[in-house]
Amino acid sequence: MAVTGNKQFKRAARIILVGAPGVGKGTQAERLMKRFPQLSAVSSGDLLRNAVRNRTDLGLEAESHMKHGSLVPDDMILKLILSELKAKSWIPPTSSVSDPSPALPSDSPSASFILDGFPRTSLQAARLDSLVPVNLVVSLVTPVNIILGRIADRWVHAPSGRVYNTGFNKPRIEGKDDQTGEPLTKREDDNEQTWRARLQKFNDTSNPLLEHYDRKGILWTVQGNSSDEISPKLFGEFEKRFC
Ligand SMILES: *[C@@H]1O[C@H](CO)[C@@H](O)[C@H](O)[C@H]1NC(C)=O
Ligand SMILES: *[C@@H]1O[C@H](CO)[C@@H](O)[C@H](O)[C@H]1NC(C)=O
Ligand SMILES: *[C@@H]1O[C@H](CO)[C@@H](O)[C@H](O)[C@H]1NC(C)=O
Repeated sequence: MAVTGNKQFKRAARIILVGAPGVGKGTQAERLMKRFPQLSAVSSGDLLRNAVRNRTDLGLEAESHMKHGSLVPDDMILKLILSELKAKSWIPPTSSVSDPSPALPSDSPSASFILDGFPRTSLQAARLDSLVPVNLVVSLVTPVNIILGRIADRWVHAPSGRVYNTGFNKPRIEGKDDQTGEPLTKREDDNEQTWRARLQKFNDTSNPLLEHYDRKGILWTVQGNSSDEISPKLFGEFEKRFC
């Protein structure tokens, strides 16, 4: 990529990235953390897995929900996020899910994070607002036809998990894995119908979420056909806002 080097923040960035499956949200998060080293990831999925693995009270409770096939309640996810941010001293120790503290979070640039996995709905976003005021929500947009095209071009070597794309990462010999020469196949769910349904479902839940943040004036949308097209725009906006 053309844009290289590290940049320092002057104030805390509390970020949420919103993007459909296939837009490369994980790629952008990694690139942002490399570009802006003060930024770290707070992933609700990782927090949940750690809590279960460490057998904390919350972990045991969450595990019993998962064992019974039910969703882990929002309150528990919020508690996990709060306890992580408190442990880092990024929010006041008095903040609690049942009694949100009016005290503001740390504005130190090192208290910067991308919150991943939560919130997914506008209801969850409203609960988060009173506990952890996010200051930028980025909507990553790639046209549906571009995403579907990329999926149509995707081939995998199932035994190794190596992934190829006949658009931008072709195998040396058509239809064959570079290392073993074995045939490439499609992933079972990499078909247009499955992906259209997945993208539609994403739109249905993300639109109210984006509207919620738009009303608060913290939504910024970036569009591009590829990750390499989106990253420089994203970097530029972060520098403008936080550096
Ligand atoms: C839980 O486990 C993770 C690693 O799995 C570790 O990094 C973390 O510090 C542990 N947390 C507690 C509260 O023990
Ligand atoms: C989802 O919403 C975006 C923006 O409103 C739109 O461009 C896109 O076509 C929609 N995708 C689907 C699958 O409905
Ligand atoms: C993105 O793809 C569309 C076709 O879907 C094309 O019209 C447009 O020029 C592309 N944009 C860039 C910057 O390549």
